[in-house]
Amino acid sequence: MDYKKYIKIVEDWPKEGIQFKDITPLMDNGPAYKSAVDEIVKYARERDIDLVVGPEARGFIIGCPVSYALEKGFAPVRKEGKLPRDVIKVDYGLEYGQNVLTIHKDAIKPGQRVLITDDLLATGGTIEATIQLVEELGGVVAGCAFLIELSYLNGAEKLRGYDVLTLMSY
Ligand code: PRP
Ligand code: MG
Repeated sequence: MDYKKYIKIVEDWPKEGIQFKDITPLMDNGPAYKSAVDEIVKYARERDIDLVVGPEARGFIIGCPVSYALEKGFAPVRKEGKLPRDVIKVDYGLEYGQNVLTIHKDAIKPGQRVLITDDLLATGGTIEATIQLVEELGGVVAGCAFLIELSYLNGAEKLRGYDVLTLMSY
């Protein structure tokens, strides 16, 4: 499927010079959203995934329906101060800012095969931080799936050696 026709490019948002890729028209189209999720589900099945992990907020939009289809769990990675129990955390930089991500300490059992999902790979800061959290808890990153890769920001360099699926590249 040609998913790009469902992505709206918004110039200079949220900051000047950023070309924001708006995925909401894709989510708004039932068959397109389902098709994208189904491709990621197929990818995950081929990699024998035990658990899906996604960073808030847009990582949930992809990861939760994948988790539901696989009948596997979903562990949320959240911004600091959002998870109620013991967490581990990591600082990271992103395309337009700085942040801290956390995960519950008991979210992953050592050796579990994890699929990480997000809408977008830009500089790779978010996925790198998420991988760090998963691996610190003993999870094995068996795959990383994105709707979109911004290849001009070289995020893929941070994913060398990892198995990656992207449905669209800009
Ligand atoms: C966006 C996007 C990715 C990340 C990609 O999330 O959803 O998670 O940036 O950028 P990077 O590869 O440079 O890290 P954002 O932090 O804006 O938050 P949101 O998902 O809560 O909207
Ligand atoms: Mg995000």
